[in-house]
Amino acid sequence: MSDVYAEAYRQARDWLDGLDTAPMGARLSAPELQGAFDGPLPRTGQPADKVIRFLAETARPGLMGNAGARFYGWVNGGAVPSSLGADWLVSAWDQNAALSTVSPVASAIEAVAGKWMKALLRLPEEASFAFTTGCQMAHMTALAAARHAVLADIGWDVETDGLMGAPPIRVFTSRNRHGSVERALRYLGLGTNALHPVATDEMGRMRPEALEAEMIAYQGPAILALNAGDLNVGAFDNFADLIPIAKAHGAWVHVDGAFGLFAQTSKDKRHLTAGIEKADSWATDGHKWLNVPFDCGMAIINNPDAHKAAMTLNADYITATPDARDPIDWNLEWSRRARAIPVYAALMEMGAEGVEAMIDRTSAHCRALIEGIGALPGGEIIARSEINQGLVRFVRAGTSEAENDAFTETVMQAVNASGEAFFTGTLWQGRRCMRVSVVSWRTGTDDIARSLGAIKQVLAEKL
Ligand SMILES: Cc1ncc(COP(=O)(O)O)c(C=O)c1O
Repeated sequence: MSDVYAEAYRQARDWLDGLDTAPMGARLSAPELQGAFDGPLPRTGQPADKVIRFLAETARPGLMGNAGARFYGWVNGGAVPSSLGADWLVSAWDQNAALSTVSPVASAIEAVAGKWMKALLRLPEEASFAFTTGCQMAHMTALAAARHAVLADIGWDVETDGLMGAPPIRVFTSRNRHGSVERALRYLGLGTNALHPVATDEMGRMRPEALEAEMIAYQGPAILALNAGDLNVGAFDNFADLIPIAKAHGAWVHVDGAFGLFAQTSKDKRHLTAGIEKADSWATDGHKWLNVPFDCGMAIINNPDAHKAAMTLNADYITATPDARDPIDWNLEWSRRARAIPVYAALMEMGAEGVEAMIDRTSAHCRALIEGIGALPGGEIIARSEINQGLVRFVRAGTSEAENDAFTETVMQAVNASGEAFFTGTLWQGRRCMRVSVVSWRTGTDDIARSLGAIKQVLAEKL
């Protein structure tokens, strides 16, 4: 039996040790890989260590390098060492983190990790929380609490009576919202027609005077969904002005802070989130800027009664322990992974100062990469960011916008094919751009120089 774990460790170590030299992007696509894994359902079994060797060796060309230092695609962070080690322990311990009686240790560590996260993110101590699979499920959790609260305010018990015949809820957002907010509304039965876009400025930030006018014109249960760091340019809504407007109209305020909420951890960046602590709920991720392994998100809700009312569950065979935290009361799932343990480990390893240093460092690297690209012949800066996300594109003199869009894509694909760095694209204000997202704790000054070298070489060939 022990050979299988030794084999798994050897394979994992080999992958981690090779991250600096391995290509940052996968070499094979999913359809190309599938054949290597496919076949009829095995009728008989085979030795476990052989299974692990086969898995690890066959997977290699399909692995993305987001655990590495020069991966700038989407917003996929790496994992600080203790969080990865803790994640291995979580799998070995195989705890069911539903109830304190089912796993005392999962309940205890989760309670502390939640308290530490609220302190790190400077959110109210008395808020309740849930560790989720990601920000998507954090939105679900928080917006379920919001749905409960805004309907309870007008005498409707949504947990008992459902939504059939309930007064409609309007959700004020900007067009810059992430798709996961929209999807949470679908899951919650509010529907996408509940979305009510509010006008924004050129960076996609909601205009307070527009929100005020929209709210005056509406009477009824309302939720305001704001952005702390949008996906393209890292823009932050103006919480200090927007939240009081919503509150004056009795709306619940929810913040999508998948990565941007971590601006709260930094003295340099905290001005971006001024006033954010006055919201009712916040959704964020551990597997992005905190650098814990997939999957890990978190909902923090400054209305424990609404949160619990939306989530709690009782059954005859469940015994609650007084004074212990039962995750089942706060989460969407019943049985679940003890995903707060890697968070606890990461916070122990880095401390608040280490997290702050990582947030500042990755932001500085993002800026250096953007400025470096802008200084290359053919490179153009579209959006500098005050955090770790920004946009660039690639242009040839005297060519049309459509040709520049295609050229940007060509350069990005060639850089990705070099294996030296990995980027993904987006459409921003009608133009094709390359996103620069620096999330990994591993990224260093040398990695920025190496990435710029790879881009420079591609431009020299393609211009
Ligand atoms: C701003 C924002 N919100 C929400 C999400 C969804 O997060 P998750 O993938 O952890 O569910 C993302 C993911 O990229 C995001 O960038």
